[in-house]
This record gives sequence, C-alpha cells and structure tokens, in this order.
Amino acid sequence: MKITVVGTGYVGLVGAACLAEVGNHVLGLDVNAEKIRILKEGGIPIHEPGLLEIVRRNVENGRLSFTTNIEEAVHFGEVQFIAVGTPPDEDGSADLQYVTEAARNIGRFMTSPKVIVDKSTVPIGTGDKVTAAVAEELKKRNVNIHYSVVSNPEFLKEGAAVEDFMRPERIVIGTEDPKAIEVMKQVYAPFQRNHERLVVTNLRSAELIKYAANSMLATRISFMNELANLAEIVGADIEMVRQGIGSDPRIGYHFLYPGCGYGGSCFPKDVKALIKTAKDVAGFDLKLLKAVEEVNDLQKYVLPKKIKKQFGESLKDKHFALWGLAFKPNTDDMREASSRVLIDELIKAGATITAYDPVAMDEGKRIFKDEKNLTFADTQEEALKNADALIIVTEWTEFRSPDFALIKASLKSPMIFDGRNLYDPKVVRALGFNYYPIGR
Ligand SMILES: NC(=O)c1ccc[n+]([C@@H]2O[C@H](COP(=O)([O-])OP(=O)(O)OC[C@H]3O[C@@H](n4cnc5c(N)ncnc54)[C@H](O)[C@@H]3O)[C@@H](O)[C@H]2O)c1
Repeated sequence: MKITVVGTGYVGLVGAACLAEVGNHVLGLDVNAEKIRILKEGGIPIHEPGLLEIVRRNVENGRLSFTTNIEEAVHFGEVQFIAVGTPPDEDGSADLQYVTEAARNIGRFMTSPKVIVDKSTVPIGTGDKVTAAVAEELKKRNVNIHYSVVSNPEFLKEGAAVEDFMRPERIVIGTEDPKAIEVMKQVYAPFQRNHERLVVTNLRSAELIKYAANSMLATRISFMNELANLAEIVGADIEMVRQGIGSDPRIGYHFLYPGCGYGGSCFPKDVKALIKTAKDVAGFDLKLLKAVEEVNDLQKYVLPKKIKKQFGESLKDKHFALWGLAFKPNTDDMREASSRVLIDELIKAGATITAYDPVAMDEGKRIFKDEKNLTFADTQEEALKNADALIIVTEWTEFRSPDFALIKASLKSPMIFDGRNLYDPKVVRALGFNYYPIGR
C-alpha cells in the first residue's frame, strides 16, 4: 500500500517506519523542516530504542521517505494517517489546530479517494470536525471526492514504541464505513498474524477508548501515590502494600508503583482533556479524574518538601546531585517531567544542582538553557561530587545498582532522596545512608 503519515514525532515516525518495515511504501510529512532534514540525512530527531535501524533500513531500500511538501504528501497515500500533536490548550482542552490543519491540507489537495486515519489522541467528536474540515475544503474547490474518516488511536509507549507498534495488544478502529474497515484490516494484517487484535467500533467509542486507557493508568498511579503518602504517616511500607494487593489478579501488579508523580506528553494532557471534554460536550463532571490530576500535581512537590524538611526552607549554599531528567526511562522526553518541578523548586529556594541523565541531557540543556544554577555532568558519578545529597527522579536501569561506597565518598552527607523507590531501605540504611524513598 501507499501510505502517508502526517507528523513525524514519536507516534508518526515510529508508525511510518514500522508500516514501511512490513512492506508498504510510506511518505512521512512534517512542517518542521529541521526534523525532515535530520531524517533525510539518515538520522532521527528523537531517542527511541531500535527506531534508527528501522528508519535507515527502509530509507535505504526505498520504502520510506520524508518531505515537507504538503501537496506531494496528500497525493502519495491512499491512506493518510494524521499523527500530529494535540497539546493542551490553556483551558486544559486538547488544542486541535494541528489536526484540523492536517485535515484541511488533505481536502485542499486530494484528487483521489482517501481513507483519513486519525492517530493523534483527540477528544470525542474530533472525527466529525475532521470530516467537516475536509468537506469544506472540497466544497471550496467545487469537487466531490470520496473520503472516510477513521479513528485509530495509538497505544505505543515511548521507550518501547517500536516493539509496541510491531506487536500491538489491540488495534482500535473507529468507523462505520465498511470499505474503510477493510482498508484498515489490510493495513494492520501484518501486525496481527498470531491472533485477531482488532476492536472495531464507531468513531466516538474509539476516541473515548484512548482517553479511558490513559485515565485508568493515571488513576492507578495517583491512587498509589496517595496511599504512599498515607503509609509514611502511619508507618506502613507501600512496597509491601503493593505486593499485597497486586497479587490479586483482579488488581494485578502493573502500574501500581508510587513515585514523584507521572509526567510525559500523554497522561497529564489526556486526563485534563477528558475532564474538559466531558464538561463541554456533555456538561458532565468527572470528579474522580479531577482528583487524580490534583493528587499528581501535589506529588511532584513531595521530593522538594522532603528535601526542605531536612535542610530547611532556604537551600542557599546547598548543592544537589540529580539523577534523571526524562519523565521515564528509555526516552529523552521531558514534557511534564517531575524533574522540571523539582529543579524549579530547589533553585527557587537557593540551591544549585548538577544533573545527569543517560539520554535526556540535550533536552535538559535546551529547556533550562538560561538557568545558571543547573549544570550537567557527563557521568552519574561525576554529578555526585560535592553534593549535599543525591536525588533520583527517573528509574533508569543504570541507577538501580550503583556503587554505594562511591556515592557515600562523593557526597558531603550520606543522603539519598529517591522519588522512584529504587533501593531496599534496609540495605541502604545499613550502609549508613539517610534514605528518603516514597511511602516506605
Ligand atoms: N508520544 C507518545 O507516547 C504518544 C502515544 C500515543 C499517542 N500519542 C498521541 O499522538 C499524537 C502525536 O504525539 P507525538 O508525541 O508524536 O507528538 P510530537 O509533538 O512528537 O510530533 C508531532 C509532529 O507533528 C508535526 N506537525 C504539526 N502540524 C503538522 C501539520 N499540519 N503537518 C505535518 N506535520 C505537522 C510537528 O512538527 C511534530 O513533528 C498526540 O495526539 C499524542 O497525544 C502520543
């Protein structure tokens, strides 16, 4: 098949590469000329394990190419995936300007029938808006060309995106057009050879499935964070609570880890957008999700509070080593990362920080380029030098079993504030550390 993917970010680039990998001819379109330049030169603009190899292989064999030329991209694919960003607007709703613009572009230039697939995470009712935007553009041109709009939300996880796309747990197809369903089945056939994974439903259900999935996961995290805070007060160990409840198959172990708050490009914005859509579209108040959001916002301040409890409200002349900047391991994404709140809070209180992250250093330098009190170390060990304490905010594998003797020797005082509960408190405390995890 010939497929166009509009937007070459985390979702679009992974999707484009994987669709080419199974034999399709794919053209990736982006309005960001810099991204397209990097891609054309054989690089990738993001960190995602395994992606560079697939992109290179398919560019070399001629099945994957990239462009900034909108008209060329619209003409190329019979299937047009829209995978552009849907960032939060100021009021929390999803900003649909990029999705609408992508749809309009298709209407402006299409000369043959198209299946337009919305892969971006969008609020309920967006499919209708996409349909209307394309119709308007066709009307302006006074032409009548058939097109269908399908909602096909993406569930990949950054850090495991290629694996998730190649072996999806489910493929949600939202449309009532039987022809479009057949096309989508053809697109996804190579990704579900083992057993049927399609969930075929109407457009609105598909749109809601994506928000429901992310909101459920966010709810589990906020639930555990709130219980962790309680556990600390009442002298319980949240890790044992996690094991005690996770063993119930109705609950399960996944996504029950307490920490210093969830971040990333999806959970915070999707929870917000669902709350807002429910209110705007249906006048419906999603009380539970509002609480999930509030708990998460507060959780990002738990580490700064613990630090101030030990060092005092003013952190003047205090210096900290920070391990981790990315919102989670295996990505360089720092959107809504807990590290950002922590860095702001500590620096506001007068502290200086030296940070280390295995892949998010460039992103950290870009975000905090004007921040003189934040410096970056080349190794996790170097970050420790002369610090009053070590703070951990991302659970990178290389932080899991560090050289504790070296940490102790490098720090001015043997203190670890661990926002991801990486260590056994008994072991670390026996080594002479003052150890401050979450809920233990
Ligand atoms: N990142 C994830 O883990 C993830 C997972 C599932 C779903 N999603 C959803 O997928 C969507 C995309 O997310 P992302 O993380 O890939 O975003 P991103 O910001 O990494 O990439 C979006 C890309 O779209 C481009 N773009 C914007 N308008 C365009 C236009 N009119 N034509 C062509 N290109 C255009 C931007 O330049 C950018 O490169 C969002 O709705 C997001 O919620 C993201």
